[in-house]
Amino acid sequence: MAEWWRNAVLYEIYVRSFADGNGDGLGDLPGVRARLPYLRDLGVDGIWLTPFYPSPDADHGYDVTDYVDVDPRFGTLEDFDALLADAHDLGLRVLIDIVPNHTSDQHPWFRNALADPSSRDRARYLFRPGRDGGPPNNWTSAFGGSAWELDEASGEYFLHMFAPEQPDLDWHNPDVEESFAEILRFWLDRGVDGFRIDVAQALYKDNTLADTHEPERRTWHADWVTHVNQPDLLPLYARWRRLAGEYEGDRMFVGEIVLLDQDAVAQYVTPERLQLAFNFTLLHSEWDAEAMRATIEATRVALEAVGAPPTWVLENHDVVRLPTRYGGGAEGVRRARAAALLVLALPGTVFVYEGQELGLEEVYVPEELRQDPIFFRTNGTRPGRDGCRVPIPWESDPPGFGFTDGTPWLRIPDDWTEKSVARQTGDRASTLEQYRAALAARRSIPALRSGSFAWLDVAPGVLAFERREGDEAVACVVNVDADPVALPDGELLVASDPEVSGTLPRAAAAWVRLRM
Ligand code: NOJ
Repeated sequence: MAEWWRNAVLYEIYVRSFADGNGDGLGDLPGVRARLPYLRDLGVDGIWLTPFYPSPDADHGYDVTDYVDVDPRFGTLEDFDALLADAHDLGLRVLIDIVPNHTSDQHPWFRNALADPSSRDRARYLFRPGRDGGPPNNWTSAFGGSAWELDEASGEYFLHMFAPEQPDLDWHNPDVEESFAEILRFWLDRGVDGFRIDVAQALYKDNTLADTHEPERRTWHADWVTHVNQPDLLPLYARWRRLAGEYEGDRMFVGEIVLLDQDAVAQYVTPERLQLAFNFTLLHSEWDAEAMRATIEATRVALEAVGAPPTWVLENHDVVRLPTRYGGGAEGVRRARAAALLVLALPGTVFVYEGQELGLEEVYVPEELRQDPIFFRTNGTRPGRDGCRVPIPWESDPPGFGFTDGTPWLRIPDDWTEKSVARQTGDRASTLEQYRAALAARRSIPALRSGSFAWLDVAPGVLAFERREGDEAVACVVNVDADPVALPDGELLVASDPEVSGTLPRAAAAWVRLRM
């Protein structure tokens, strides 16, 4: 299908937590490969693999020492090729994660840069003299503390927007762009369908290094006001799009553009730039019909203006799991299930994070077992992201739950027996079977996948819209917090609450094929 990415469902695989093929307790590429049939049966169109490159793991793989190899803990390049071939045989697209904003401090470029300040590699990074006995400016790291680290040997500071073990590259240096073009080609030659670009709004920094006036307290998705989102990014992404366009097969990019202003995001996804940008606005919305509608509408309108499809993200490996964000317990799961039907019926591309289809909740990871640098760099004031990264329960038995024959790298809670793929499979009331049914309907009903969109006004507290193609129309009704509402006349396709028939209770959603 041309421009397959316009209305795909893409499944994020956090590689170390998906499936372990060799019993060392860490997920790996052979593990993913063995579970591909599950994803085909789930009904997604493709996968996004988080970084599997050699890495000392200061930020779980987002600190890369070699962009064109596989970390031995995750397998080999041959394992990658085999995974890719199997995925393609099953009709699944494969996106990989490219990390161009920073390398690991163990990358040969950075080691050279430290060892020899006159080396050409030094200029790949942002080394600058300090100011008044301190760092060059007031920029702070997304992981807490200053964004500058002193290189004692030279007396200069280097920039790191994340952990100090993740020095930022200087994208104003053409050597950097040239190296990444080679890296992209390496993977395109191997046959990947596209890339997820890490920290895509931040590669170029404000060269003047002016102090920023952003608020000191920052959440994951707050805009970085002054020093990122630089104009040089737009022509870079046009060059990348042309590069990928030299290959057959509609290869694509999805940028992690961490900007809430959708008009700013739209600039990145014009027809000559990136195909997609993550849209994190629903990660911020409360369970509130008006707020959700406003957010959806702002995204749709801004992206429609540039001809780009919106994307919808409810979870990923950086945020608290959705049922927990929605209040936790049975009510949290109920709302999360309704939200799934909401986004799967919206126009555009949907990203599903591993385990979202099981209704997994955030796990409390005891402090002594925490791994995320955010926890350590903020002295424990921010809990970090380990709680959404706990491995997937495939089977019902602890401690490995079919994820591993060994000991999982993060403990899987005992009560996940009920949440396991094995337990949910075949149970029509389960979250997993709801996802399967919704994805099957989305695949088989063109109106749901590519039809026109119009809001329907049902009642305050209810979100409803219609998707229509030819003589077929499907209504998606989400009762956020209203009294039960009558569903429109027609065939009930999928409901988030198995009890639903003619009326829709609070915190539930349904798709109805309308009688024409
Ligand atoms: C965004 C990634 O999703 C996150 O996991 C990582 O820590 C940062 N970028 C830095 O690479």
